[in-house]
Amino acid sequence: MVLVSGTGSLLQSIIDNQDESYRVSKVVADVDCQGIERARAAGIPAEIVAFDATDRKGWNHRMAAAVGEPDAVVSAGFMRILGPAFLQRFEGRTINTHPALLPAFPGAHGVRDALAYGVKVTGSTVHFVDAGVDTGAIIAQRAVEVEPGDTEASLHERIKKVERELIVAVLRAARAEQGTLRIDI
Ligand code: GAR
Repeated sequence: MVLVSGTGSLLQSIIDNQDESYRVSKVVADVDCQGIERARAAGIPAEIVAFDATDRKGWNHRMAAAVGEPDAVVSAGFMRILGPAFLQRFEGRTINTHPALLPAFPGAHGVRDALAYGVKVTGSTVHFVDAGVDTGAIIAQRAVEVEPGDTEASLHERIKKVERELIVAVLRAARAEQGTLRIDI
């Protein structure tokens, strides 16, 4: 199952590349977004669990209930931090794709922060989700060169091209084993 918050172009790549190695069982979002529309257009069950800053614990419980019991939870452009009520149930089988080479530039603005720092190479990281912000074990990374004149938007678009391929390669290499994900890549 896939978690989204926005455009959902990574979700679209995950959907378009489904094969015998994985299927998308459900899409859950914290907000009504294009990702939800993409799921519905593909005939995949989709649910919005509206984020509630006044009741994070309750929201995490509702998220966990909406996710159900999938082999894997894929955070693909999901912009909320998941708390203990969610992670205790899904840690070890929740992965995230991040638009920077972790541990550099974690958080919500990985592309902007890398550009502002002046790095010449950034990229994409797929990692397990733990209780920290983008701190879980790294599964796979690919580099993207920063080009002269890059804006946040132009750099992010080149990174997303890489992310769309990398997340599919990771999912194809993933096997569910006793409630956790084993990924040999
Ligand atoms: C992707 O670049 C993803 O790595 C990023 O949001 C974008 C989603 O694009 N996620 C984060 O920054 C999480 N911290 P999309 O909505 O087009 O799939």
